[in-house]
Parts: sequence; C-alpha cells; structure tokens
Amino acid sequence: MKYRRCGRSGVLLPEISLGLWHNFGGGDDRVQNVAIIGRAMELGICHFDLADNYGPPPGSAEERFGSLLKQEFAGHRDEMFIATKAGHLMWPGPYGDWGSRKHLISGLDQSLRRLQLDYVDVFYHHRPDPDTPIEETVEALVQIVRSGKALYIGLSKYPPALFNRACTLLAEAHVPCLLHQLRYNLLDRACEAGQLPAVKAQGTGSIVFSPLAQGMLTGKYLNTTALPAGSRAERSDSIFLDAAKVAADAERVARLHAVAEKAGIPLTQLALRWLLQRGEVTSVLIGARTVAQLEECAAAAGQPALDDELMNLLNAE
Ligand SMILES: NC(=O)c1ccc[n+]([C@@H]2O[C@H](COP(=O)([O-])OP(=O)(O)OC[C@H]3O[C@@H](n4cnc5c(N)ncnc54)[C@H](OP(=O)(O)O)[C@@H]3O)[C@@H](O)[C@H]2O)c1
Repeated sequence: MKYRRCGRSGVLLPEISLGLWHNFGGGDDRVQNVAIIGRAMELGICHFDLADNYGPPPGSAEERFGSLLKQEFAGHRDEMFIATKAGHLMWPGPYGDWGSRKHLISGLDQSLRRLQLDYVDVFYHHRPDPDTPIEETVEALVQIVRSGKALYIGLSKYPPALFNRACTLLAEAHVPCLLHQLRYNLLDRACEAGQLPAVKAQGTGSIVFSPLAQGMLTGKYLNTTALPAGSRAERSDSIFLDAAKVAADAERVARLHAVAEKAGIPLTQLALRWLLQRGEVTSVLIGARTVAQLEECAAAAGQPALDDELMNLLNAE
C-alpha cells in the first residue's frame, strides 16, 4: 500500500481506504466481515470509515466493527485510523439529526459506546445543516477534540463557501479541518466545480466516496436486464442503488467499459486509478462485500500514472 499525507497534517492515509456503509450491518455475515478486515490490514488498508447510521439497521455497523475490534483485532487499535460521523437522522425528536451541539455530542457518545472505544481518530460532521449556525457546529467539533473523544475533525458534503468558513473557524480554534469527504467518481464529477478547488485552497486532505458508483463502475451491471444475485442493486435491503439508477447510467458505463477494454485495464482499476491521479485526492474510499473485491480494489494503489491519451478519453465521458 502507498500512503499519502492528508493535507498539511501529520496523518498519512492509505491510497485505498475501506468504508463500512454496506456489508457490515446486523444481517451481514460476521465471518466474512472478519476476513475482509483482516485482509485489509494485511494489505495496508488501515483506515476504516464508519458513521452512526451505517447498517442496516442504523448503528449496527458500528456495533459489528466494535465487536470485531474487541474479539478479533484486539491489540491492533493503534495501527488503525477509525472514522465515524454524525449529522444524518439517528433518533426521533428534535435532537436526533443535523448539526446542533446537542446532536453532535450525544451522537458521538452513542457511537463510542457502540464501537466500544474511548475515542475515534476522525469525527465528521456528516452533512451541512442549513439551519444551525456554523459557529455552533464548529464549537461542538472543537469541544469534541478538546475532550479527547476524537483526534481530528472532518467535514462531509459541505458546499465550498460553508467549507471555507468552517475551515477558518476551526483553524482559529487551533483544531484544523483534517479532510473533506466527497462523492467523486467517473459518473459524478460535481465536486470538481467547487468543492475540490476549495480543498486545494484550504490545504486540507480529501477522501472520495463511492469511487465505483456503488459498483456500477465495475461493469457488473452491463447486462441491464438481469441484476447479479446478491449485488447492491439487486438486494432489497439496499435502498441507494436500484434497477432504475443502473439503467439511467447504462450507456455511459458501457462507453467507459469499452475504453477500459481497449486499454486492457479492468474498468474497476481504471475508475480507481483515474481518481488517484487527481492531486487533490488523498484517499479513495471503497466498499467491499467480499475479500476478492477488496483485493481487486487494493491493487489499484501504487500503479503508474495513466497516460494523457487515456485520461483524455475518460475525461471526455
Ligand atoms: N460521507 C457520505 O455521505 C458517504 C456516502 C456514501 C458512502 N460513504 C463512504 O464511502 C464508502 C464507500 O462507498 P460505496 O460503498 O458506495 O463505494 P463503491 O466502492 O463505489 O461501491 C462498493 C460496492 O461496489 C461493489 N464492488 C466493489 N469492488 C468490487 C469489485 N472489485 N468487483 C465487483 N464489485 C465490486 C460491491 O457491491 P456489491 O454488493 O454489488 O458486490 C461494493 O459493496 C462507504 O462505505 C462509506 O464509508 C460516505
């Protein structure tokens, strides 16, 4: 594994990190989970990304990971960089969501109990809150670091102006923003317009999620009439990808697949290497349901740069 410095911080992150949004919930196979985390550690993928609402059901990915840490990986805590987040709906009533001091501090306390940890390495505000003053959100994040419950602070999905303001406030409190977590893949390049330039201007790190567009950029859905059994688009407990979304992007994926075939590089690899070639990207945050998927993604790290002709073809799509 190759490691990249996260902005101007002391933190190095692996080029490929592992997210537990899917595949580590209450109904997922624990034995498979142990195998994936164990293989990740062997491959040098030491950064694990969670959030309070990951599962399903919400909370269960943290519970699963906490139990694995305690029972299977005890003694390895300091080799790992563990993230969690709050800011999406977690419990009923006015305090279970968004970005108030009340929500963030209660939310992290709940996460730490599920994870069976005293602190996380990075705590994110999971999404911007249009109604809470950014000063309050930032003060809560600063308080969390000062209390020792998180070592670093991250932001996720912030628009550029709010990201800049939050970075300024955090820097003034001597708790600099470590990194911005953004969606970025060959099918969704919206962050290039403002969020990535803001990351560059602020000098923070960035970690980009859904790099394979939830699996669409592996080519597994090229046959749009039959979704592969057990895949995210096929599973009824997975609500973020379905046949309609697969169909909507099918033509672009087919064109990208043709580019990959011509280059002699699997589309999965090409999609990840294209992201790693962006200077602003510190780490590419994948998901994996099996050890084989993890290994295929990990192999994208440390590869030579794609040539200009290939990059131009991909950028044109
Ligand atoms: N900040 C946020 O708001 C936010 C939002 C979304 C995600 N995230 C983070 O980003 C992480 C990654 O997101 P993601 O899961 O959407 O990433 P992704 O890497 O785009 O998709 C992962 C899925 O693609 C399929 N896959 C992966 N490698 C494969 C391979 N080699 N061959 C075939 N299929 C493969 C698997 O799905 P199948 O089940 O179909 O096999 C896998 O679960 C999440 O776990 C989470 O930590 C953050």
